[in-house]
Amino acid sequence: MAFTDRIENAISRTIYKGQKAPSPGKLASALHYSVSPGGARIRPKILLSVATACGDDSPKVADAAATALELIHCASLVHDDLPCFDDADTRRGKPSTHRAFGEPLAILSGDSLIIMAFSVLTEVAAIHPDRAINLLRILAERTGMPNGICAGQGWESEDQIDLSAYHRAKTGALFIAATQMGATAAGQDGDQWDELGSRIGEAFQVADDLRDALYDEMMLGKPVGQDDLHGRPNAVTELGVQGAIERMKDILSGAISSIPKCPGEAMLAKMVNSQAEVLTPMKWRAGHSSRVPGE
Ligand code: IPE
Ligand code: IPE
Ligand code: MG
Ligand code: MG
Repeated sequence: MAFTDRIENAISRTIYKGQKAPSPGKLASALHYSVSPGGARIRPKILLSVATACGDDSPKVADAAATALELIHCASLVHDDLPCFDDADTRRGKPSTHRAFGEPLAILSGDSLIIMAFSVLTEVAAIHPDRAINLLRILAERTGMPNGICAGQGWESEDQIDLSAYHRAKTGALFIAATQMGATAAGQDGDQWDELGSRIGEAFQVADDLRDALYDEMMLGKPVGQDDLHGRPNAVTELGVQGAIERMKDILSGAISSIPKCPGEAMLAKMVNSQAEVLTPMKWRAGHSSRVPGE
């Protein structure tokens, strides 16, 4: 089955379980609303690519890991859009969860998705207890303090931001979780996969800076110009557009060299290269000539 189908089926099954009676109806709807339609699903796709490269001998465990990771990501976006964070009215081309359901249900949706993420991993403990415990450990580390996305968001309340710690925790953490969890789900040592995740996360952050600076809200499905608005340093102001694209490509070639020895090494290198294409803003992709809207 294609990665996209595996991811969507596994997420739907988990959300459906959370919506069962006697669940309160509005929160049940808000759960579904917060995860679908999804965005790029880049983190679970990377996770399944790494699991596949490592043999994917237990697809149920890999699917649970992919679901857990994407649910944490979706929860982080629901909370990130709240008025007390970025106060964003749109997400993935539709009203953000608190705009559609109100703040109490948005907070509760995010909370419920985080709990579900951990719960889904406990459900595969009967298949591979050791793998499940390691998956729970990695996900907890990359979600909470001091190295997870909570830490990343926390940096925004400091008077002085340590930019690399901020990016590594806010954006890098879930990419590191993606590669480590992919390997772990397939019975390999996740620690060896830290560098690949970290480099992909760094490249993704540069790509996100480019999108924030170059695209319009219609194209991105969420507010743009946020880095300038919040006075956050970003790769485009530091390096210019061309410089930022070069930087992203350099980081991704470093990512390819960091792929640990495994049966699917060549396939993973191809996956990273294809991400380089997807992450490059439209106008700068090979063979593309039209202008980026909003420029
Ligand atoms: C947005 O992530 C949040 C960041 C860490 C920059 P994505 O760009 O992966 O969001 P979706 O899931 O595709 O909507
Ligand atoms: C969201 O970061 C990242 C997390 C919630 C961890 P941003 O605020 O930079 O991303 P967007 O622009 O809202 O997607
Ligand atoms: Mg934010
Ligand atoms: Mg935001």
